[in-house]
Amino acid sequence: MYGELPFSQACENNKAPILAVLQQAFASCRHVLEVGSGTGQHAVHFATHLTQLIWQASEQRHYLVSLTKRLRRAALVNLPPPLALDVCHDAAPSAVYDGMFTANTLHIMPWPVVELLFSRLNEFTAPGATLCIYGPFNYHGQFTSYSNQAFDASLKSRDPKMGIRDITAVVALADAAGFTLRHDHSMPANNRLLQFLRTAG
Ligand SMILES: C[S@@+](CC[C@H](N)C(=O)[O-])C[C@H]1O[C@@H](n2cnc3c(N)ncnc32)[C@H](O)[C@@H]1O
Repeated sequence: MYGELPFSQACENNKAPILAVLQQAFASCRHVLEVGSGTGQHAVHFATHLTQLIWQASEQRHYLVSLTKRLRRAALVNLPPPLALDVCHDAAPSAVYDGMFTANTLHIMPWPVVELLFSRLNEFTAPGATLCIYGPFNYHGQFTSYSNQAFDASLKSRDPKMGIRDITAVVALADAAGFTLRHDHSMPANNRLLQFLRTAG
């Protein structure tokens, strides 16, 4: 079914519960930017079911070929070709989005890159935009499960700059960028979906 394209079993497992949240969170959105689209499985699933909006996937350049293939194969009118977007190096897309989504990126990006991403949110989004961030998070410096603790250790063994972020630090960055946390959705497998509203700027 997926041919030679990269495949994430985690995406297959989490795409339905994420969609259930996005159907409400992005109900009034028309144009959503996804940062770090990875294999594109999320983009295809969400564009298939959120037909009222255009889902704009993006990725770092070295993942773009396979991502483009998967999106082209889906042939959805509301799923344009992905943009090259490395938050460290690339200019913001020319469009301004009323929704933004990113999954499993904050524990991969070194913390200064996470800070940069948040400092650039107002380049990517319009006032009143909804921002949804999916992934594992810590609370008060504590892991929420042994599996997240083990995952964090495996990330740090790959690169000490990676690691599960503390929700307090993430919410502080969002606040500084003019985004208010509206919902902290509990998700399967000890993940969260943080839903923010751009309230200022
Ligand atoms: C663990 S993968 C998650 C992919 C997909 N969102 C998912 O949930 O399966 C982390 C993603 O973050 C992206 N990423 C890391 N640093 C980035 C940066 N500076 N700018 C944009 N994306 C970045 C990587 O390219 C990678 O696709």
